[in-house]
Amino acid sequence: MASLDRRVVVTGGAGFLGSHLCERLVKRGDDVLCVDNFFTGSKRNIQHLAREPGFELVRHDVTFPLYVEVDQIFNLACPASPVHYQFDPVQTTKTSVHGAINMLGLAKRVKARILQASTSEVYGDPEVHPQVESYWGRVNPIGRRSCYDEGKRCAETLFFDYQRQHALEVKVVRIFNTYGPRMHPNDGRVVSNFVVQALRGEDVTIYGDGSQTRSFCYVDDLIEGMLRMMDSEKDFHGPVNLGNPGEYTMLELAEKVLRVVGSTSRIVHAPLPLDDPRQRRPDIGLAKAKLGWQPTVSLDDGLKATVAYFRALLSG
Ligand SMILES: NC(=O)c1ccc[n+]([C@@H]2O[C@H](COP(=O)([O-])OP(=O)(O)OC[C@H]3O[C@@H](n4cnc5c(N)ncnc54)[C@H](O)[C@@H]3O)[C@@H](O)[C@H]2O)c1
Repeated sequence: MASLDRRVVVTGGAGFLGSHLCERLVKRGDDVLCVDNFFTGSKRNIQHLAREPGFELVRHDVTFPLYVEVDQIFNLACPASPVHYQFDPVQTTKTSVHGAINMLGLAKRVKARILQASTSEVYGDPEVHPQVESYWGRVNPIGRRSCYDEGKRCAETLFFDYQRQHALEVKVVRIFNTYGPRMHPNDGRVVSNFVVQALRGEDVTIYGDGSQTRSFCYVDDLIEGMLRMMDSEKDFHGPVNLGNPGEYTMLELAEKVLRVVGSTSRIVHAPLPLDDPRQRRPDIGLAKAKLGWQPTVSLDDGLKATVAYFRALLSG
C-alpha cells in the first residue's frame, strides 16, 4: 500500500511523545487520527497540526471502545509521570488494561498492526544491569507505583495473548527515560525540573548526593525507534528496549543544564526518596540488531532544544 493511503491511530496523541509521533506521521504523508482525553495531554501540543489535511483529532477515553477504519495503531494513552499516574491510580490501571483490550479489539476487527508503548518500569527495581528484554523484572504488585508498572505489564500480556490467540501483528517497545520539547513543566521528572528551576533562577534540587545515574533519550531518537519497530518484519513482536544507554550522574546533568541555560542558580541537595533506583540503563542490542536503530542526538544538543522550548513556554 502506498504510504499516502495509510490510516494511523495514535492514542495519547496530544501528549509529549504522542504529539511528536503525530508530527512525524503527518510529515511522511499518513492520515493520522489523534485520540486523546486530555488528561495530561493538551491541544497546544498539536495545534500546529490542526490545519494539516492529514490530521484529525478526537476527544475519546480509551477505556471505552473505539470504532474506526484504520491500518496501524500506536497505543500511547497513559499518564507517564508518577505525579500524574498516582493522581487516580485506579484510572491508570484501567487506561493501561481496558485501553489495551479496546485497542487490541479494534486491531483484531480491522486487521490493523498495533504497537504498544510499554516502559522500562516493567523491570521494576532490577537486579540486572543494564536491563535486557529477557529479564522478567522485579516489581512490587501492591505499591504506589504498581498501578503503572503492573498495568503496563498486564498490557504486554494482553498484546502477546492476542498475538498467540488471534495471530495479531503486535509490536511492543519498552521505553526508557525520554526528554525533549513538550514535556510537562510540573511533572516532577528530573530534566524538566532542572531546566525549569534553572530558567527561573531558582536553586536546582538534587536528591541525595547526586551520584545516582540515569540515561536520557532525546524524543526524536525515540520516535524514530518506534516508527522502525512498527514497520519491522511481520514476525518480530518484541519486546524491544528503546532508550539511550549513555549514563550520567544527576550532578553531571545539573551542571550541563546550568551551562546550556547560562544560569547562575545554585545546586542544592535534598533527601533521597525511598524508591529512587541507583541506576537504570537500557541494553539496546536487540534494537540495533533488529531495527538498525540507536540514538544519535547528544545530551548537549537535546538539552539545547529542550531549554529553548521551556524558555519560550515560561516567557509566553
Ligand atoms: N516519556 C517517557 O519517558 C516514557 C517512558 C516510558 C514509557 N512511556 C510511555 O509512553 C506513552 C506516552 O508518554 P508521554 O511521556 O508522552 O506521557 P503524556 O502524559 O505526555 O502522554 C500521555 C497521553 O495519554 C493521554 N491519556 C491518558 N489517559 C487516557 C485515556 N484514558 N484515554 C485517552 N487518552 C489518555 C493523555 O491525555 C496524554 O495526552 C505512555 O504510554 C507512557 O507510559 C513514556
